[in-house]
Amino acid sequence: MRRPEVEIGELWAAGSPVLYLVTVEEVRAVAACRLAAEAADGNLAVWSSQRGLEPIAPDARTPIAAIQAALQAPAPLLAVLLDFHDALGDPDVVRTLRDALPRLSAEGRCLVIVAPRLALPDGLASEASVMRLPLPGEEELSALLASVDRPGSASPADRQRVLVAARGLTETQARRAFQRALRIDPALGLRAAELVLGEKKRVLSRDLGLELVETQEAADSLGGLESFKAWMEERALAFAPDARAFGLPPPRGVLLVGVQGCGKSLAAKVAASQLGVPLLRLDLPRVMGSAEGAEENLARALSAAEAVAPVAVWVDEIEKAFAGSGPGQGADARAARLLGSFSTWLQERAGAVFAVATANDVSRLPPELLRRGRFDELFFVDLPDAAARRAILALHLRKRSREPDGFDLATLADACEDFSGAELEQVVVGALHRAFAQKRDLELSDLRRVAQDLVPLFRTYEEEIKALREWSRGRARAAGREGAVVDLFRRAAP
Ligand SMILES: Nc1ncnc2c1ncn2[C@@H]1O[C@H](COP(=O)(O)OP(=O)(O)O)[C@@H](O)[C@H]1O
Ligand SMILES: [Mg+2]
Repeated sequence: MRRPEVEIGELWAAGSPVLYLVTVEEVRAVAACRLAAEAADGNLAVWSSQRGLEPIAPDARTPIAAIQAALQAPAPLLAVLLDFHDALGDPDVVRTLRDALPRLSAEGRCLVIVAPRLALPDGLASEASVMRLPLPGEEELSALLASVDRPGSASPADRQRVLVAARGLTETQARRAFQRALRIDPALGLRAAELVLGEKKRVLSRDLGLELVETQEAADSLGGLESFKAWMEERALAFAPDARAFGLPPPRGVLLVGVQGCGKSLAAKVAASQLGVPLLRLDLPRVMGSAEGAEENLARALSAAEAVAPVAVWVDEIEKAFAGSGPGQGADARAARLLGSFSTWLQERAGAVFAVATANDVSRLPPELLRRGRFDELFFVDLPDAAARRAILALHLRKRSREPDGFDLATLADACEDFSGAELEQVVVGALHRAFAQKRDLELSDLRRVAQDLVPLFRTYEEEIKALREWSRGRARAAGREGAVVDLFRRAAP
């Protein structure tokens, strides 16, 4: 990851008159500007309404006075304007700024607006460069840890573990986490790393709608979905750093569409463990829920996810988040904009971030998400066939310490036609309840009895499920002409 001061320096050197720096980390933003100014042998000034333009013009308290003072100060100049986004609501300020633009860039002066969210008036949109301050990278976190730690007190491996745990935190949050960890575990051992990780989990879920999901679900906890698992296995190899040296692009992600209760969410967890990376569940409806700042929230969550990389980012039931974004659905402009940002992210994100999304309802799934370049692959997850039903019954028995060989699962699986994976699990659990109530161990008759009494969702939703199947076939055919998309369905899960 490039250091932010380098990027700031480049924009400044390229003659940007205004740089809009989006961040919640004001202190870090000013520090990055200071480094950029030092590197370029230029001058730095910082304006706030309370302190004027320091150190050049402390009396320049109003926004207009600040702009004028920045034009008088010795160039080259990087002038950081704090909370200036508020002032941009005033047409006089915008006018003054627009008038100053030619001189600013001609004389090597750049105004850096530091604000927690992007709010550019139309008159400046094409003139200003926008940059999001990335979260601190490995190098910055390492320097930060060194600044609060006694040197040489921990082994490099221990420090590394703590640094990895801190990825995704802001500088302030990381410093606080490091200090707490050092108080409890001065040698920065496992406990320190756990504490930092715990702090990160809290912060990510509270502020960003990102839940770090603990998952040890190996591929064998998912019955059926053979081609998905095989595909994932192949992609997992390509996720490793040596695949980059080999010339492979990093795998981007997968979209699982299909019948409810057939293991899509479970497959997301399996995917992360196949990749050997943590799983971050992105709660999109929550992130986008606030009318105010939804776009900012989304950008912040996605950039935190990138900071945690290598990681799998999981969006469950993605169609729910973007309901209303399509033209036929009452065209909610905000949802459409957010869908645009999210799609762009899917396509252009950098680094080892694997996206796993699931969807139950294709009628609400925006077509944008199905375009090429968004996901590597689209899998349709159908109700399990007989072999898959046997496998699912077996693994759920084994999960509850019953040896599946002791039961005639072939016959049982035949009796469970049209059952979903979740319903097959219910058969096992229900049968255990029955046996336990009768104070004996589980028998095949319990399983058969519960299966008989269970009315699968398929009975109620037969039409919908058939339509879903049809949709997936239709896609495959239509997509066939576009090349890569044929693969999507040729290899679709059984
Ligand atoms: N293919 C499967 N293999 C094993 N268990 C399954 C399978 N499908 C469903 N289950 C069980 O049902 C539960 C719910 O399935 P889930 O993954 O949430 O389905 P979906 O996301 O497709 O609605 C899972 O946690 C698991 O216990
Ligand atoms: Mg699910």
